[in-house]
Amino acid sequence: MPSDFGLEGHSDADVLAHAITDAILGAAALGDIGMHFPDTDERWKGCDSLVFLRHAKSLAEAEGYRVIHVDSTVILERPKLKDYRQPIREKLAEALELEVGRVSVKFKTAEKVGPVGEGRSAEAQAIVTLQRLGTGPFHESQSPPA
Ligand code: C5P
Ligand code: MG
Repeated sequence: MPSDFGLEGHSDADVLAHAITDAILGAAALGDIGMHFPDTDERWKGCDSLVFLRHAKSLAEAEGYRVIHVDSTVILERPKLKDYRQPIREKLAEALELEVGRVSVKFKTAEKVGPVGEGRSAEAQAIVTLQRLGTGPFHESQSPPA
């Protein structure tokens, strides 16, 4: 998308995909993105952020979970992203093999406060809902107290 600035090392869309990747791993109690995709590992160097997203989905599936819903927010002062909401949702939905209606993407500014508000940074937040499937591994140590 056209913009007079970007983030070093990452695109704004990467920040969002990384947050969703971390949320999938977190929902399945599988650690975090840096653990699975260390930036010191040549295998992941320069990888498209959607590769991480798809890999996190397959790790969750191997644990017996299915991703059923994503809610996310990009916090960015500028540019305005709302005109890109639909293509971003479609891209994420395709990577996650979800209907687009199950992928929510929201935007907000930081109201000029802090590094994000000063336009020096961007943040993304995500919540992922997983469905526990009847089969597949589920470690006792991770189950909630009875
Ligand atoms: O944060 P704020 O209240 O100013 O956001 C107003 C609207 O602008 C929001 O509904 C949001 O969808 C949109 N927005 C946007 N791109 C941003 C920040 C906010 O499209 N970078
Ligand atoms: Mg507001």
